[in-house]
Order: sequence, then structure tokens, then C-alpha cells
Amino acid sequence: MTDTLTLTRPDDWHVHLRDGDALQAVVPHTAAQFARAIVMPNLRPPVTTAVQAVAYRERILAAVPQGVSFTPLMTLYLTDNLPADEILRAKDVGVVALKLYPAGATTNSDAGVTDVRKTYATLEAMQRAGMPLLVHGEVTAPEIDLFDREAVFIDTQLIPLRKDFPELKIVFEHITTREAAQYVAEADRFTGATITAHHLLYNRNAIFTGGIRPHYYCLPVLKREVHRLALVQAATSGSDRFFLGTDSAPHPTHLKEHASSCAGCYTALSAMELYAQAFDAAGAQDKLEGFASFFGADFYGLPRNTGTVNLRRENLTLPESVAFGDATLKPLCAGETLPWRMV
Ligand code: NCD
Ligand code: ZN
Ligand code: ZN
Repeated sequence: MTDTLTLTRPDDWHVHLRDGDALQAVVPHTAAQFARAIVMPNLRPPVTTAVQAVAYRERILAAVPQGVSFTPLMTLYLTDNLPADEILRAKDVGVVALKLYPAGATTNSDAGVTDVRKTYATLEAMQRAGMPLLVHGEVTAPEIDLFDREAVFIDTQLIPLRKDFPELKIVFEHITTREAAQYVAEADRFTGATITAHHLLYNRNAIFTGGIRPHYYCLPVLKREVHRLALVQAATSGSDRFFLGTDSAPHPTHLKEHASSCAGCYTALSAMELYAQAFDAAGAQDKLEGFASFFGADFYGLPRNTGTVNLRRENLTLPESVAFGDATLKPLCAGETLPWRMV
């Protein structure tokens, strides 16, 4: 056990950066922590064309502070009628993946896919082009219990999809259950998964301790302790199928602390600190670098980063909130003291 960790510069394989003033507020946080990040396309309206992705990338780059090197990796939002030939245009401009949101599953998913079979021509083109599909893996049928939505997605959506597209690269995003961890661990090399820091650190009690705590509400929702333990096991196993994706998802404080609170935890401000805490608690400091800095790049077929970052066992007290355009933004663990800090 050591009090200092030196890692190859890490990447975030799943982040929400929003747009406009919100984008200006959060890009510096992600750029301070990560060399690259896969930027989710769930803007309003969603990013559905190569041209829109290029314009969005320019807006992100313009928000990166002087002297900081940060590369946003762009994605398109899969819809029922995204033309298959958009895949090649997207690939040409450097788009790295498409994102599948089942319609109604999460924040800004109204334009999402109503039936995955409607997208088969596009998935065919993606498989041919080696373009990964990133999935928000939850069913949306109202009769399915909220806590079961991910496990049911595996059986009813993912297994049939995989059978029809055996060589489509699929990233099962922000997995939250033992079932998902097991599915990915047993799958072939075309399947990977991201795991958030908050799903490694918290179980669903966090949402309800001492009253409803909306800053712990995200989708897929936090699960029971057995699931958290399975995620920790997967992330610290050394398996290259599992890699870092914060799913940092900023919403203004007034919409989080609201009668129908928005889903999403804002972790970008201290992402590596939170992951270091989780890996350290599991006695797996030595597994953090593969998870944070190697396996995602390898899965996407991108070069690993050069350069290093350091984390030290040293208290870090998070601010109560940060500016977010005209509003404020509360990081997860606002005002609390974390045991690790990036130096
Ligand atoms: C994300 C968001 O706010 O964009 N929210 C969340 O709870 N994770 C959407 C998503 O990743 O599902
Ligand atoms: Zn999602
Ligand atoms: Zn997300």
C-alpha cells in the first residue's frame, strides 16, 4: 500500500459536457483530470450528424483552458432513422462511436430508439466500419421495476442484438449490476463496459440516508450492496473489458433539488480522486492504471496516452458548489473531504 500513485494520463470514456454556459463551466474540470473523453451526444437537439459533431467539438475545444491539452472524442446519437451512410461521414471526421438511448430511458432521450430493429441497417454499417455502439442498457417498459431495468435489458435486448451482430463493438455503459458485470466478463472481445466512480463507492442507501438526497440520483439508479461489490470486483479484477467512464452529468442545483429531480451525478471535478478512493478501499491500487489509462484506449483501438498524473493520500475538501452559467452546480460529495487528491 502506498500513499502516492503515479499513473499514465487517464481518459474518461463517458462524460456529459452539455453546451453553452454549462459547457464553459465543466470542460475545464474534465480537461484537468483527463487527456481525452468520450463526449455524449444527448444535447437538445441531439448530435445526430457528422457536421453537428464537428461543430460541437469546436465549441468544446474553445472551452479548454489555455495550455491544457485535452482531446474530446465525439459520438452521434442513434435514432430510429439515422441514415446508414452517415456512419462513413462520421468516421471520416473522427467520430468514434454511436450512442443508443432507448427512448425515454434517461435525460434527453426523447429522440432515442423506440425499437432497436429499426436501426439494423445503421448497425450493419457500423459493424462493417468497426464503429462501436455505446448503450444505455435499460428497458423502459413501465411494468418493469426500476431496479430491474438493466438486468432485463440484457436478456431481452442485448443478447439478441449480439446474436444478430456478432462483431459489432459494444460498450455497455455505466453498468450497475452483478448481472451486467457477469455478462461482460463472459463476453468476447467485442464487448466492454464502463463503470462510474459513484457506482463503485455507493449503494442505493445513499439516495435515502437522512432524507431524499437528490445528488445521488442518477440513471441507471444506484443498486443494492451486492451489486456494488460485483462492480468493484469487476473494475479491480484486471480484466481489460472494464474501463473508466465517469458518466459525470451536470444539472443545475435548482433542478437537482427539485420535486422531480434530474438524473445525474456531477463527478468530473474530482473524478480521479473518487476512483482512487474506491480502488484503495478495495486494496487494488495497482489495478487503477489499467482501468483508468489503458483498457479503454485498447478497446477503441486508440493509442495509450503518454505523460503521467499523480494522486496522493491527502485530504481534499470539495466546494459546496461551483458556477454553472447563471446557476450553480453541486459536485457529488459537495463540502465533504475526500481522502485522495490529484497533485
Ligand atoms: C445522464 C445525463 O444527465 O445526461 N444522466 C444520468 O443520470 N446518468 C444521462 C445518462 O447517462 O443516462
Ligand atoms: Zn446513460
Ligand atoms: Zn451518461
